[in-house]
Amino acid sequence: MKRYHTSIADFLPTINFCLPKALEIPYHVYSMKELKTYFIRTYGCQMNELDTEIMAGQLQKKGLVPVGDEEAADVLIFNTCSIRDLAERKVMGKLGRMGRGQKRHGIIGVTGCMAMAKKDSLFRKFPHLDFVLGTNNITDLDVILDEVLYTQSQVHKTEDRFEENLDYLAAKRDNKIKAYVSIIRGCDKFCTYCVVPYTRGQEVSRPPESIVEECKKLVDDGYKEITLLGQNVNSYGKDKPEWGCLFHDLLHKLDSIAGMERVRFMTSHPIDITVELMQAIRDLPSLCEFVHFPIQAGSSRILKKMHRIYTKEQYLEKVALLRQIVPNVSLGTDIIVGFPTETDSEFQETYDVMKEIRYSLAFIYAYSPRKGTPAMRWKDDIPEEVKQERLQRLLELQEQVSNEERSQMIGSTVEVLVERWNKDGKTLKGRTRCWKKVIFEGDASLIGSLQQVTVHSFGHETLIGTLATKPLIIHK
Ligand code: SAH
Ligand code: SF4
Ligand code: F3S
Repeated sequence: MKRYHTSIADFLPTINFCLPKALEIPYHVYSMKELKTYFIRTYGCQMNELDTEIMAGQLQKKGLVPVGDEEAADVLIFNTCSIRDLAERKVMGKLGRMGRGQKRHGIIGVTGCMAMAKKDSLFRKFPHLDFVLGTNNITDLDVILDEVLYTQSQVHKTEDRFEENLDYLAAKRDNKIKAYVSIIRGCDKFCTYCVVPYTRGQEVSRPPESIVEECKKLVDDGYKEITLLGQNVNSYGKDKPEWGCLFHDLLHKLDSIAGMERVRFMTSHPIDITVELMQAIRDLPSLCEFVHFPIQAGSSRILKKMHRIYTKEQYLEKVALLRQIVPNVSLGTDIIVGFPTETDSEFQETYDVMKEIRYSLAFIYAYSPRKGTPAMRWKDDIPEEVKQERLQRLLELQEQVSNEERSQMIGSTVEVLVERWNKDGKTLKGRTRCWKKVIFEGDASLIGSLQQVTVHSFGHETLIGTLATKPLIIHK
């Protein structure tokens, strides 16, 4: 694995120095030794959460320790998301307020997708910012910190291409039961609304040996559930045909690790799901029977405009085949309402398709135009009230479907990975293999174990049950 141990002369050509910090801002000269604490605030998806854990690992290797307070941290990092306007506005607002308020003595940096979308233009808007580090360069975090200290300038590094050089094994995870593992970065799909291909770059698969090594270590460390991450995990290995290891091959390798209890993955682009993958879900004991399978819209015209490269009919065929091969599979989805030119009847197609498929989980979003994406060419012509009305209708439908599903599960016994105490402090909380939340009474010794729980009722987004001594009917 390539690491970035270079002299300053080595990295000078690749790191870009910017404006000196505004003169009125007091600059305290630190050395790396004096940087003692850090705080990373994470926005966005699971990939960002994992990147935060990897950056935390790098900082801890350097001797820094986490603190619970942004203000007190010597190094404050905002690991950002650009997926929708609101995600960016949250961070921009926060950075703006920090610049106007009391000057901090520490170093402030922006990482993640907004770093890629805005690059060094962030320095113009936020003169108190010290560094901008892109999603493909997080391995350079320690170099960047040295550079900020050494030059007392704003530094940015935002390369478009990712090189597989992350120190995954050093990642610092707060959760001791469930872990994220990155298997492929980037996205080559270029859906017309989406910033990810620009903020995360081209697809680059991680070598299977490295993934297996990390998963073995996680199992040895007592982890019970591993979620494999990628913008499109189904593309795994296609960029490296010489490895002879596609996604389903990788799943077989992971399933054969002794002690591996549960494996999940997200996200799957519908076009790339294969029969071999469906069979792997059916056959591999560790592989959970839940597939997040975003449809985005129910109208083939809108899907074409989104460049999703499948029609409604093709999507429905894939779902039918998946359900035939894995009858107890649960499905999740993402949906965008109010995409440019979406008519009422096209929205109704989305509603109808959701009603037909009956997802267990749906993330529903109002379309948000993103700079640099092809969809920006089209007028954002659906009024905000209409978007919100459509969103509301789908949320209500999903709530109804999920409640019906929960009520059908009453009386069944489910396998629950017990994760923690529920907010009430009296019951325990965990998830089924199909990602359903379950609460039940039990003691702390059960946390981190797999238990059989019989469902007797349900509440908002939750199944409620009691510990079963022995499994009765095993339900998804
Ligand atoms: N790689 C995943 C999605 C990552 S982004 C996949 O393709 O399934 C997560 C979700 O955000 C997307 O599925 C989409 O529903 C939503 N999204 C992306 N860009 C958006 C935009 N411009 N406006 C609204 N929602 C968007
Ligand atoms: Fe975005 Fe489409 Fe890639 Fe998903 S598949 S990350 S929605 S471009
Ligand atoms: Fe956001 Fe980037 Fe993830 S845009 S959703 S943090 S890949």
